[in-house]
Amino acid sequence: MAAYFGIINDYEKFVKAFQSLSGLDLNYYKENQMKRRINNFMATHEYKDNYTDFLKALDCDSNLYDAFFKHLTINVTQFFRDLRLWDVYREKIIPELLAGKTSLKIWSAGCSGGQEAYTMAMIMAEYFPNIRYSILGTDIDINVLQQARAGNYEERDFASTPRPFLDKYFTPADNKFQVKESLKGNIRFQEQNLLTDRFDRGFDIIACRNVVIYFTDEAKNVLYQKFTDSLNIGGILFTGSTEHLFGKSHFGLKSISSFFYQKQ
Ligand SMILES: C[S@@+](CC[C@H](N)C(=O)[O-])C[C@H]1O[C@@H](n2cnc3c(N)ncnc32)[C@H](O)[C@@H]1O
Repeated sequence: MAAYFGIINDYEKFVKAFQSLSGLDLNYYKENQMKRRINNFMATHEYKDNYTDFLKALDCDSNLYDAFFKHLTINVTQFFRDLRLWDVYREKIIPELLAGKTSLKIWSAGCSGGQEAYTMAMIMAEYFPNIRYSILGTDIDINVLQQARAGNYEERDFASTPRPFLDKYFTPADNKFQVKESLKGNIRFQEQNLLTDRFDRGFDIIACRNVVIYFTDEAKNVLYQKFTDSLNIGGILFTGSTEHLFGKSHFGLKSISSFFYQKQ
């Protein structure tokens, strides 16, 4: 593979070569921000401005590759991230959805280490114990999916978590916290690239939060349309707390509370 790269001296060629190496097409991400992140990473790993050597190193050093992929995809997250919005989710969004249903199909798109998906499962278990539900967690980064499946977390992951949830749904083990098996039963984690892979349908809730920040506007528009197509009528798209959807009526979505959009 390395020989294939030849001399690479500009970003466009880097993007092409990196796509053939990783499958990730950086053309969907905002160029300036990606360039900055790539250059910072290269500088701290002593590959300043040398895309060719950097790509060769990525090709043969899997630790460097994993670190770089993680740096690009940015998987910072927490249980109950933006706690106030989870109150709205529990007090308004779920009860209104359940007015005409007895089960819920939920998707955490860009789920990172699973903290968002388990937050959703805790809310179901705690407040809606008689409702059947399934939660799909997807991410492009297979390393974070491993953590999600294992369900083993650091104390800092719980900075926003009300203490009773930690005590009830996790077991302390070796300075970490292991999610209880009872919470795992309704959750499935799967690798998926939101920009290129096909989506399942029939969801009542899709949470896609803090994932699209680096996507281009064109990529976001395509993605939001695909999410809308995957929702049931009346279903909810839950976005990150800095992510307002502009032109949402084009997608057939209506804002029903800040960061919650309903399919009409
Ligand atoms: C900052 S985390 C967000 C986690 C969680 N949704 C939250 O709000 O806390 C962003 C996640 O999006 C994932 N991601 C980035 N690009 C993606 C893509 N094209 N397809 C699927 N996941 C992607 C990253 O791997 C990362 O785990």
